[in-house]
Amino acid sequence: MTRINTLVATGAVAMLSLAISTAEARDFRLGLVTPQSHIWSQEAEGFANDLAERSGGEHSVSIFPAQQLGSEAQMVQQLQAGSLDMAFLTLAEVSNRIPDFGALYAPFLVENIDQAAALLRSDTATDMLDLMPEQAGLVGMGYGMAGLRQILSREPIESAEDLSGLKVRITPFDPLRDFFIAAGTAPTPLPLPAVYDALANGQVDAIDMDYDSIRLLKFYEKADHLVVSNHMMFPMVAVVSGRVWAQLDDEDRDMIRSSMAEHANNILTHFQENHDAWGEELRQQDITVTEVGPDFFAQAIEEWEEIWAPKAPSLSALRETAAQLAE
Ligand code: BEZ
Repeated sequence: MTRINTLVATGAVAMLSLAISTAEARDFRLGLVTPQSHIWSQEAEGFANDLAERSGGEHSVSIFPAQQLGSEAQMVQQLQAGSLDMAFLTLAEVSNRIPDFGALYAPFLVENIDQAAALLRSDTATDMLDLMPEQAGLVGMGYGMAGLRQILSREPIESAEDLSGLKVRITPFDPLRDFFIAAGTAPTPLPLPAVYDALANGQVDAIDMDYDSIRLLKFYEKADHLVVSNHMMFPMVAVVSGRVWAQLDDEDRDMIRSSMAEHANNILTHFQENHDAWGEELRQQDITVTEVGPDFFAQAIEEWEEIWAPKAPSLSALRETAAQLAE
């Protein structure tokens, strides 16, 4: 064989082995912060079962719930390095890295759970996923959510002044921090698994949380005053590591994308179907309930807007879409 032929043959073998390696069976690892009983973790299991079935048993997915692989910030680093394959993430850490995603946390962007789900299914929100590969090294498959946010506190909150100086637990990310600073509180960033103990030992006075987590994780046992405000939606995004994505062939990509998007969408539907009933369920607990609207947070909304409108250019398109969806 001439030297050129040898090189061509070697190249062909290398390409063939690359093709074989891209199509090889894989056990993907998927991380999330929610406990096993949470709907995100259940839909992650559903995705794992689907992928195993659709790939004829070739691929499997191991699920790591309850922050077993670290915080969302750590998981995003692992996804970027390719040492973690997939995750169901709050958009919190993503918005820390791509501020435009902060727009999805605009206070009172939506009025109710159906509008939240419709907005997350809209082209306006879906198009934002295109920012992720280049700016965060992640490939977004679709949105889920954890409903709308409320405030649960140890002492009653009856007026905006009652928020002053209150240590409010927040999920660690900038748009939410800025909202609670503007509302006069001292926001205390803590991941979901740390919240129960923080309430129990008095590290925080109140928490920013959704109905489902309040009931599932029994936070009302440690704080018995609920402010029903629906002040923000809380999106989730199903992602694959950009490095891992680059190693997959088209068939695997299609399978993963359609299955992950379907299970993320199931989460949206689950919240639509249960949000109001969960609110009722909480009202049956031995807690006080105060209903408030945007007026309660008027000053905070104005300040939030000043900070985030320039940082999050998608905000105006999202508002426009939300308004059309409300019609
Ligand atoms: C939270 O940080 O509050 C949270 C995270 C994931 C699901 C639900 C709530």
